[in-house]
Amino acid sequence: AAPDALPRDLEGLHVAVSAGGTREPLDPVRYLGNRSSGRQGWALARVAAQRGARVTLVAAHTADLATPAGVDLVRVGSAEQLRVAMHEVAASADVVVMAAAVADFRPVATAGHKIKKTDRDPEPVALTRNADILAELVTARRSGQVVVGFAAETGDEGADVLEYGRAKLKRKGCDWLVVNAVGDGKAFEVEDNSGWLLSADGTETPVPHGSKAQLASAVWDAISSSLKGRGT
Ligand code: CTP
Ligand code: CA
Repeated sequence: AAPDALPRDLEGLHVAVSAGGTREPLDPVRYLGNRSSGRQGWALARVAAQRGARVTLVAAHTADLATPAGVDLVRVGSAEQLRVAMHEVAASADVVVMAAAVADFRPVATAGHKIKKTDRDPEPVALTRNADILAELVTARRSGQVVVGFAAETGDEGADVLEYGRAKLKRKGCDWLVVNAVGDGKAFEVEDNSGWLLSADGTETPVPHGSKAQLASAVWDAISSSLKGRGT
């Protein structure tokens, strides 16, 4: 739909969206990263702005994407930088969406100079855990603030995608978890997504196979009606 055909139901709200993949430096020229393109976060930010929200988009590494119209863009690199930026913007946000692919681990040490090869095999890279930004944002949640997480799940012999999603929603304590079914060429580096919107109140809404913009619209539809239901 054209932007002027969209509802202006997010007017008066400040939304913070994280996007892209963090990069954890090994030395000044090398990092541990992931394949996130940032496109889902971009779609969430673009649609929110089109529906009237004030939008801050905190972006780690992404594909070469144009900044959506009317969106404030903040660039970060590592998970720790993303963490600091998200806490800062969350302090004034009504809705916080963690669509970024945050590295779970970072190298224990970052060399100050380029690591040189020698005649011998290298030492293994020692890793340590990164902070769970989503869980921290839930702990710091202001009254009435809505916190949304994303999960990409494949399912395995132990549990299916939806079961992993339900467990993750509980563990993270967020208000909404957007669960993407991945594998078979879904989600990473492709245009389409499919999955479920899981609400902390137990509501489970399937999201049909469609574009990242359609998933973004479904997320904002759900958040918008939950805020209306509260009478805000
Ligand atoms: N997330 C985060 N900080 C981290 C790791 C993840 O804020 N250090 C957020 C992601 O942005 C996403 C949600 O948590 O919104 C779920 O991320 P995911 O990687 O699926 O969950 P994990 O708890 O890291 O579990 P696992 O990778 O083992 O499935
Ligand atoms: Ca993870």
